[in-house]
Amino acid sequence: ASAHPLAGTGGGALPVRPRRLRSTAALRRLVTDVRLHPSDLVLPLFVREGTTEPQPIRSMPGVVQHTRTSLLAAAREAVAAGVGGLMLFGVPERRDALGSGADDPDGVLNVALADLRDALGDDTVLMADLCLDEFTDHGHCGVLDPAGRVDNDATLERYASMALAQAAAGAHLLGPSGMMDGQIGHLRAVLDAAGRADVGLLAYAVKYASAFYGPFREAVDSQLSGDRRTYQQDPAANVAEALREVRLDLAEGADLVMVKPGLPYLDVVRAVADVADVPVAAYQVSGEYAMVEFAAAAGAVDRERAALESLLALRRAGAQVVLTYWALEAAQRWLG
Ligand code: PBG
Repeated sequence: ASAHPLAGTGGGALPVRPRRLRSTAALRRLVTDVRLHPSDLVLPLFVREGTTEPQPIRSMPGVVQHTRTSLLAAAREAVAAGVGGLMLFGVPERRDALGSGADDPDGVLNVALADLRDALGDDTVLMADLCLDEFTDHGHCGVLDPAGRVDNDATLERYASMALAQAAAGAHLLGPSGMMDGQIGHLRAVLDAAGRADVGLLAYAVKYASAFYGPFREAVDSQLSGDRRTYQQDPAANVAEALREVRLDLAEGADLVMVKPGLPYLDVVRAVADVADVPVAAYQVSGEYAMVEFAAAAGAVDRERAALESLLALRRAGAQVVLTYWALEAAQRWLG
């Protein structure tokens, strides 16, 4: 019998065969480019005021609104599993037009930050969502002018006060997510003037007015009735606008820049990664998580494989850091 080198693969007419490098698991492992590691993942966590039991979020299976106590346990577990950081969101009991709970040192987000910093020190990167929407009774990310429009510059003053409260509570990185013009520059100046040059800014530089935030609205009991199209970006806008937002945030002193949502905007992640000279993050948002969870529950996709594939896509597009509600499970079970 002749031992032709390509015996069994259909003959010798094809000198170039990409399948050769896929033929064993060991070969595939050798030539793998994109890797997922727990330390690149950030776990978003919700903490709710005035509750004694963690509250499930119906549209985000497996995610809860934590109590202060259960939050601490979840954070410790994530740190033990090697998750790279934690992003905290607060759900207050009472709301008002100015979002007073946001910069109150006794507000739910600030007390929870202090709990975590006390317990974990510098063992993790503690991040805080810096936005008013969870705290306002109208649900907008800023304060409103008499005509009911979001007032950019008045909002910056509220953000500044919130930043100082979050810095005092122990956050390492602040994540301004409200898409107000000039927010990064204003916060950097205010932090520096207060002697808090140590606190960094994770800029939500590119953030679209997205339907994929749907489950998040339930997660924070959002009071919003309209939409955020006058401040968040239009999904149909060109990528040049995204790059302009990134340029501005870099010039204003952003330490990292983020694109949000993730999967529907992989082209934007790639474009930003090609120009940014700081680390790029992508936020895999609540609706992206819910899509896979509900599709898997219906038997349509394999849950773990679909989740990991979506995380790989974000890394492949150029995100160094990925915020994902699967961070803990991925770190504990999938990436072992
Ligand atoms: C604003 C904020 C939102 C999210 C993170 N920060 C909601 C919004 O902009 O409407 C969405 C996160 C998610 O959907 O997982 N504070």
